[in-house]
Amino acid sequence: MQTDPYFPSGARGTRRSGPAMSRVLITGGAGFIGSTLCDALLARGDEVTVVDNLSTGSLDNLGHAWGHASFAFIEGDIRDARLVERAVAGHDAVVHLAARIGLRLVVASPIETIEANARGTEVVLEAATRHGMRTIVASTSEVYGLSTRHPSSESDPITFGSPTRGRWSYACSKAYDEFLALALSRERGLPATVVRFFNTVGPRQSARYGMVLPRFVRQALAGEPLTVYGDGTQTRSFCHVYDVVDALTTLINHPVGIGDVFNIGNPAEITVLDLARTVIARTWSASDITFVPFADVFGEGFEEIYRRVPDITKARAELGFSPSHTLESVIDDIAAAVTGEAALSLALAGQHADGSHV
Ligand SMILES: NC(=O)c1ccc[n+]([C@@H]2O[C@H](COP(=O)([O-])OP(=O)(O)OC[C@H]3O[C@@H](n4cnc5c(N)ncnc54)[C@H](O)[C@@H]3O)[C@@H](O)[C@H]2O)c1
Repeated sequence: MQTDPYFPSGARGTRRSGPAMSRVLITGGAGFIGSTLCDALLARGDEVTVVDNLSTGSLDNLGHAWGHASFAFIEGDIRDARLVERAVAGHDAVVHLAARIGLRLVVASPIETIEANARGTEVVLEAATRHGMRTIVASTSEVYGLSTRHPSSESDPITFGSPTRGRWSYACSKAYDEFLALALSRERGLPATVVRFFNTVGPRQSARYGMVLPRFVRQALAGEPLTVYGDGTQTRSFCHVYDVVDALTTLINHPVGIGDVFNIGNPAEITVLDLARTVIARTWSASDITFVPFADVFGEGFEEIYRRVPDITKARAELGFSPSHTLESVIDDIAAAVTGEAALSLALAGQHADGSHV
């Protein structure tokens, strides 16, 4: 059974004694990273409001928070300026995570990607600027685009692929978010910090939208072949969501890194093929590995990024960021969460089958 680091006893709706430390608004807080951050903040006594349109997030992710006296949920879209203005008021900080994310979704719907990520961020940052609020903006390693400098540092130049390739709508919209946050910081005094996440992984991450590790773990546990896209020589660097949440909680409370950008990731680099092998070994699975051409998954002309590894020197020095969770531990945590979900579904199916809890 998986233990939750923020609610180890599984308790819900409990409130710590003492005054709340901060009132934090999380956009996209029903998603993978946002809901994990929400748990961490509630556990330390903060007040948290989540705004989410539940497009890729889910209320299930907020199971620990629901009913908590210091938690509020607003279902809505960040492009709704009146809703965002009302949500922002009365908070000390906003962590802006809401975005269209996941290669499958991005490639399938570039318009929604551009509108949610560019217009949505404009609305959030305009409101945060009016309220002079501490603001953390989530960006992505995708903004390094086709850069051939490795590891990637925050000041590296960026080379995007052609706008005729839908995948770049995500990187470009996120780069736009960065420009806007930094400009508002310089010209209008918004205390904003941009964090560029590199492949964040952990329990609650959906396997539906093209994320590799949750898909591999689910395939391994089901005894199905692990589907490696391309030849598997492309590399990624995986950072446990608990390490990412540590960086975010530090930034919320300290006026460090204002008007600046930080890589947040784990520099340990692995090929996707070795990742598949590690997942199989770690889960004691008998699964095979099969190779699937990128074009079969993402369509003709898809451009892959072949290497992605962060230089975290700056985050270490200025934020004290030091990822401590290994790839093996995150595989174990995801496997435990997937097994827990399966057990719960079976139990519920059993209850419904005998009619006792219908
Ligand atoms: N997970 C990663 O590996 C990773 C890597 C780089 C960057 N990021 C960034 O981190 C942030 C969080 O990502 P995540 O992995 O938790 O993804 P996620 O899909 O689990 O979370 C995103 C949340 O935003 C919500 N959302 C989307 N569009 C919205 C809108 N228009 N209005 C309101 N809510 C909206 C979704 O419902 C979801 O709950 C995103 O900004 C993403 O770009 C994540």
